[in-house]
Parts: sequence; C-alpha cells; structure tokens
Amino acid sequence: MRVAVVGGGVVGLACALELLRAGHEVTLLVRNEKEAASRVAGGMLAPFSEGLTDELLEFSVESLGLWREFLETVKELSNRSVFFSKGILRVAKDERELDELKKLRSYYLKRFCSSAELAEGEELGKLYPKLSEKLAGGVFYEEEGNVDTEELTEALFTAFLRLGGELRREGALRVNRDGERVLSVKTHSGKLEADYFVFAAGAWTKELFDVPVFPVKGQIARAELPPDGPPFVVYARDAYLIPREKDLLLGATTERAGFDARPTVKGASALTGNALSVLPALEEAEFYELRVGFRPGTPDGKPVFYFGENFALVSGHYRNGILHAPLTARLVFLLIERREVSPYFQKFSPYRFRRT
Ligand code: GLY
Repeated sequence: MRVAVVGGGVVGLACALELLRAGHEVTLLVRNEKEAASRVAGGMLAPFSEGLTDELLEFSVESLGLWREFLETVKELSNRSVFFSKGILRVAKDERELDELKKLRSYYLKRFCSSAELAEGEELGKLYPKLSEKLAGGVFYEEEGNVDTEELTEALFTAFLRLGGELRREGALRVNRDGERVLSVKTHSGKLEADYFVFAAGAWTKELFDVPVFPVKGQIARAELPPDGPPFVVYARDAYLIPREKDLLLGATTERAGFDARPTVKGASALTGNALSVLPALEEAEFYELRVGFRPGTPDGKPVFYFGENFALVSGHYRNGILHAPLTARLVFLLIERREVSPYFQKFSPYRFRRT
C-alpha cells in the first residue's frame, strides 16, 4: 500500500518506520525538519517524574515498556549510535512537595513501576552530592530515562532512507477530504496522493484539521556539562537538568505565545535561575545557547487520536511526544495492518472536547 506520513518529528518518523518495516511504500512529507519539537525536546521518558495520572499515565507507561526495543531497532536499522541514559531523580524543594511526591510514589509502586528509591533530607546527597542542600528530598525512578533527541531524529531519518522510504521536503497546505476519506494532500508543489495517510503534524495540526491542538512554547538552554555534573537527569518542579555526552540541557519554559520563536531574556533568566537553585555548582559552566520549540498542546494535556476510512491523525502529545512515539506508531500499525482499533482512539478522541 502507498502510505503518506505528514510530519518529520519523532512520532511521524516512528510511524513511517513501522509502516516501512511492514512492507508499505512510505512517503514522508516534512516541511522543515529543524522546526519539529522533537529536535529541541529534552528527550525525557518520564511518566512518573512528570506526575502523570489516569489514562495518560497508562498510555505513557505502556509506551515506556516499548522504548528499549524501539531504540535498539532504530540503532540497528540506522547503524548510528544514540545516547541514552537510565534513571531520573525527581526532587522536591520543600516538605509539602516531598509529601506529594511520596503519595505519587506509593501510587506508582502499586501498579506502574517497580523501583522508586526515596531519599529524604541528607540522604539525597548520597545519590548526588552536588545537589543544593536546600532540597527536601527526592525519588529516583530507575525505569525512566533520557534519549538524545537530535541523535534520535538523525538515526530515524537514516533508518527511514535506508529502508527505501521517500522523503519529500515540503509542507502540507491542506487536506482534501470527501467526508471520512482523504483524497490527497495539497503541498507547495502540487498534491500528494496515497492509499492511506498518517498525520503527525504536532503543534501545526490545526492548519490541517479542526482539532484543538495549539503550540506551547518551550525554551531550553544548553550549557557545558561540568566534570562533576549530574550522573542522571535531575527533575525539579521548575527545572530539569539533562546530562548528555556533549552538553547539559536546562529545561524548560512553558509559554502560551503562539509560534513566537524568539529566545527571550526572561526565558534565559528563569532557566538558569531555576537550574542553579537545584545545582549551585553550575554557576561557572559555560552557557552555550537557548533553543525554542513548540509542544503540541491540548486543552487537557492529553493526545488527540482520530481515524477515518483511510487516514489516522495522531497529535497533541504535548510534553511527552518522545516517550509516546513507540506506542503511537504501534497503534497506527495495528490500525492499518490489522484493522485493530486501540481503545486509546476512544480515550483520546477529539470528540471529548465537544461534550458539555
Ligand atoms: N517533557 C518536558 C517538557 O516538555 O518540557
């Protein structure tokens, strides 16, 4: 079958790869691969540190379970290395926050994770001595992790091309539909026809479909990773620090500012100030740059999934697109290959926003 995938972020790429591996002819439509949120994303696989609950937690934990295999497959198919680190330390700044973390930890341990080491007060220093002494404590979630998203997107593109996928570098302007059937996608150079269409257009989804997906600006800073920098991701309520091979990411702002792509002084000040309150020793690290990305937000922070006769729409992954990519690709594969409709299409249906 000829399948067209619209969107060159990790979700679109993961779908495209899964369909190529199933033997389909896949064309990937990418307006500008540099603008995808995936490139700027911190790459945390963090359902617990993000404090997720209900069906969003279930979806996220299920996808986390697919992640190691997904990564191995991408590395093997691309023959590229992709940096991955295991474990995230979720810290609390005061006793009240620590109590909340403890409650969530007990809830997660009942059903969703098997390892969540609690460190109170001075015990935190045993996990990583450079942390601020003012922190009240934290929980180390061993099953969480972090992936270098620039390396991941490069590897996904490489794997896609190596498996014979066709990459078209142009934007989708409009979806030509006859009810629940997509006829074609209008592009800058003409139109794209296919037997099946997958739309993974992230924050730009609203340009193609009438669903409440909107951009949530995130500024993230890149700095030098000091020799005694954190050995794992440290996640506080207003800052996260992500050590990678080549740098340290300090994330991230959450702003409703449309597609304003300007890094701001306020953003830089918030990111560095918050990061220093967690790790004071960072003060002398070299500051590299500030990056801006657009998360695909929704009114309730949960994804938006929809399908018609010959198309699927997967969007609204908000803060967790990297984490959600393997399961999203799996659901699209099952829908196309086996006509299996995952219950998540119902749970994350856009119709939920029309109920009063
Ligand atoms: N997942 C972290 C963020 O969106 O900032």
